[in-house]
Amino acid sequence: MNIKTEKRAPAELKARPNENELGFGKIFTDHMLVMAYDAARGWHEPEVRPYAPFSLDPAAMVLHYGQAIFEGLKAYRGQDDGIYLFRPLANLERMNRSAARMCMPQLSVETAFAGLQALLRVDADWVPRADGASLYIRPTMVATEAGLGVRPAKEYLFFIIMSPVGAYYPEGFNPVKIFVTDTYVRAVAGGVGEAKTAGNYAASIMAAVEAQKQGFTQVLWLDARERRYVEEVGTMNIFFVFRDRIITPPLSGSILPGITRDSVLHLLADWGLPVEERQIAIDEVLAASENGELLEVFGTGTAAVISPVGSLHYRGQDCLINQGKTGELAQRLFAELTAIQHGRAADPYGWVIRL
Ligand code: COI
Repeated sequence: MNIKTEKRAPAELKARPNENELGFGKIFTDHMLVMAYDAARGWHEPEVRPYAPFSLDPAAMVLHYGQAIFEGLKAYRGQDDGIYLFRPLANLERMNRSAARMCMPQLSVETAFAGLQALLRVDADWVPRADGASLYIRPTMVATEAGLGVRPAKEYLFFIIMSPVGAYYPEGFNPVKIFVTDTYVRAVAGGVGEAKTAGNYAASIMAAVEAQKQGFTQVLWLDARERRYVEEVGTMNIFFVFRDRIITPPLSGSILPGITRDSVLHLLADWGLPVEERQIAIDEVLAASENGELLEVFGTGTAAVISPVGSLHYRGQDCLINQGKTGELAQRLFAELTAIQHGRAADPYGWVIRL
């Protein structure tokens, strides 16, 4: 498919931000990719064009019934000044699984990836060079058909926007404090918990706001049925490092199948470390911490990368993990993963694509 490109006039290009003060998702590049869908034509006319607001009918179905899905991936600047993408096809494939769950149309992974590459070429200079910074890429699909009947829309928009980012959490790579909620739940198997759909994030905000008011960075969700088994953290999957094994909750239908989670599982297996993907009760975590069996806890995500957890707060009790410090394994995973992502380390998995 031919990708039309309309570039912003040189005089209208945005001023570049200070790469050492990016924060997360506050600044957007000069261009975006847009592609429309309707039942008669399917996906058509992908176009790279200047980043600008859209106009949407007030009855657009996404605004009423939330048919909205998204992805998050990153482009990294290599030492050779090249641009490296980490597992972009895995993100687009996951987007198609989210689309299927939300009765939205499938994308051609090939066309969407060609569109992403065309966009990246136009905004290539936006991929940051500063240490710890990258270009966060947000593919999104929303229902645009005007109508108030509850059914799958017949018209959609797919777009990709990009944002130069630093660390997701204000703590950077330092340990975060996590609040374990048994008041709110995120998702239940059979629902949409494993789809990367906007409503999952909307539903998480209240618990996150309450936790942040009390000084915590994020919420750890427990399962919706028994409120006992660990699910995931607001924006990342979670791993528990015991003395003799590493445990992470299984992909049981209610948690996000993280691409960083999957990458970490591959690295751990190759390092010969025993990993169990199984249900783990919060009581088991706290008991292991009490008796010295729990060495580290960390989260994994595209935005969060590897994020050490310094403490878990559950039912009024604080459980300090590894004396609140970054653990050895989290450090090693962070170093290896970011080296692969920036094209600095060997990539035996074929995860990295150089633009
Ligand atoms: C990501 O890690 O890419 C995410 O989607 C988390 C996000 C909601 C900030």
